[in-house]
Amino acid sequence: MAKLIIKPIKQIKAEIQVPGDKSISHRAIMIGSLANGETVVNNFLMSEDCLATVKCLGQLGIDIQMANDKCQMSDGCRTIIRGKGLRGLRESKAVLDVGNSGTTIRLLSGILAGQSFTSTITGDKSIQKRPMMRIVKPLRSMGATIEGREEKDQIFAPLKISGGKLSPIKYELPIASAQVKSAILLAGLFAEGETRVIEKVQARDHTERMLAYFGVKNGQEFQGKVVDVPGDLSSAAFFIVAALIAPNSELIIKNVGTNPTRTGIIEVLQRMGAKLEIVDEQVVSGEPRATILVTRSSLRGTNISGEIIPRLIDEIPIIAVAATQAQGITEISGARELRVKESDRLAAISAELGKMGAKIKELDDGMIIEGPTGLKGAKVKSYGDHRVAMSLTIAGLIADGETTIDDTACIETSFPGFEALLRHIQ
Ligand code: S3P
Repeated sequence: MAKLIIKPIKQIKAEIQVPGDKSISHRAIMIGSLANGETVVNNFLMSEDCLATVKCLGQLGIDIQMANDKCQMSDGCRTIIRGKGLRGLRESKAVLDVGNSGTTIRLLSGILAGQSFTSTITGDKSIQKRPMMRIVKPLRSMGATIEGREEKDQIFAPLKISGGKLSPIKYELPIASAQVKSAILLAGLFAEGETRVIEKVQARDHTERMLAYFGVKNGQEFQGKVVDVPGDLSSAAFFIVAALIAPNSELIIKNVGTNPTRTGIIEVLQRMGAKLEIVDEQVVSGEPRATILVTRSSLRGTNISGEIIPRLIDEIPIIAVAATQAQGITEISGARELRVKESDRLAAISAELGKMGAKIKELDDGMIIEGPTGLKGAKVKSYGDHRVAMSLTIAGLIADGETTIDDTACIETSFPGFEALLRHIQ
């Protein structure tokens, strides 16, 4: 099993880029497949999760040409999709396997619900434990027939989706989830009439932006486009926090996505006293991007709850690492969703940072962290969760002694080249 061995870092002084945004890369493949003609995706994220989406759409009859397996970010990782239009997908005889990717299974289920054939979709052990009723319920009410392993009020993959004629719905999301919102909106492309999703708290809006960028109008065919994917702020977050807490550090990260539905981490870190500057902001392919300047900072604790939670949901593990170095108490609440991500992130981060000496208390829906604490190197594990693995790696950079993080192959799901970039900035 892959592992990472991390020693304390002396300083970070570098200018870097991070790989393409995962959420946007998935959506470019799916929406490009439903367009007519070529969609060119520049800076596509060549990670296991996004490659799972490519493979599934390939099984559904779409020709997708990958740049090159080893493409560097500087070459743009150009991926070309030959879309076949709204009615162009074909039945896959084989089961669709999303691997570890929650975004693939939930968004693609929305598309499959609108097809005139039956599909079976599943993923790895973690995927088979993640709740699917959140998408199955609205998709069933639009007219799709979906079967799965039903237990109590929940349903789990493998899912058998028999699509067909869908009716539009107006649906108020019971939980803030971009995956659920997107599944319904994508199913809505196949329904006659207007499908509307109402959010109490806004989750990331990449699907809405990309549909608008492609010029999609209800039920009408649309043309392929060029999509330039910005760097993933969720990946940049690990390096941002590293440069805030490592000695004498200065880091420039270019071309990072700064969609306001994702920038909760920047707001929280600034509130904690972080010296973070966002410069050269511009909108490309319907999404804002900018350069982020980071300088080592003294941090102070803060409260994180309410509407900001969905805007930093994936960054809570790395925010917890920052909080161990902040003066005072950081309290995170209203984040129960973290229990149903790739792992139970509240349990995982509390247990593993605890092993490194952090003063951290797990709450039912969050964590309380008291800082600053001098972390110590320890043997920790990822629970097969990429964001837990990378957060612990960053903690290791400022810990006394050596930190071994077990089970780090999962980093490939979202951030190929993470270790190389980490070595590069030292
Ligand atoms: C994502 C939505 C979020 C996020 C995930 C990616 C997306 O999940 O945690 O990493 O691309 O739509 P939820 O919709 O379950 O909150």
